Amino acid sequence: MIPLSAQRVRTRHFTPDDADFVLAVHQHPGLRRFIPRQVIEDADAAEAVPARIERFRRYDADPVLGVVLVETRPADDAPAVPVALIMLQPIPASTGVDLQDVEIGWRAHPEHTGHGYVAEAARAVLDHVLASGLPRVVAVTDPANSASQAVCERIGMTRVGLSRDYYDEETMLYVADRPGG
Ligand SMILES: CC(C)(COP(=O)(O)OP(=O)(O)OC[C@H]1O[C@@H](n2cnc3c(N)ncnc32)[C@H](O)[C@@H]1OP(=O)(O)O)[C@@H](O)C(=O)NCCC(=O)NCCS
Repeated sequence: MIPLSAQRVRTRHFTPDDADFVLAVHQHPGLRRFIPRQVIEDADAAEAVPARIERFRRYDADPVLGVVLVETRPADDAPAVPVALIMLQPIPASTGVDLQDVEIGWRAHPEHTGHGYVAEAARAVLDHVLASGLPRVVAVTDPANSASQAVCERIGMTRVGLSRDYYDEETMLYVADRPGG
């Protein structure tokens, strides 16, 4: 995905130097509660974090798909602060379901949650991908993950309801369709 800029934040590709950030994001209490398989424990960090960063960089050359780091846009010479990540990637349809969709997702650094940074970056990414020609983007959350559902709603996605179309799991499904498309 190409780098994008919003009012307070911008996106960029990951580098191996983002290891501390990646570890902190993957210990967020919300991730531990709702997507425990994605948590990285300290004991596994030496191997798991570089592997995760490699995975995030897989689509770096793709103009639309990818996993990007969200960082603040400092007003002066201060360093940018990494605050979250946004993912845009193909979503696995459930067994027997013939759907080929692209999913948007997000994970925040636990110390930078609650500032609207994720919603601001996710909105920029969603606008970019729909303008790039993708007809539809979906987001799925654990039915109890109200923080993530609030992001979906803040960026204008439509709540479809409970669905078993993806991941062979029951999720709360949101969609965004290309305007006029
Ligand atoms: C889901 C998650 C990314 C949401 O992060 P977030 O920081 O709450 O999301 P937003 O960027 O939309 O920020 C909204 C919050 O910032 C507040 N905020 C402060 N300043 C703001 C501003 N200028 N603009 C908008 N919101 C602002 C909002 O009031 C809201 O706070 P509230 O939840 O207390 O009402 C985060 O909880 C997380 O990483 N969870 C673990 C991973 C996860 O569940 N991922 C999703 C899997 S489906």
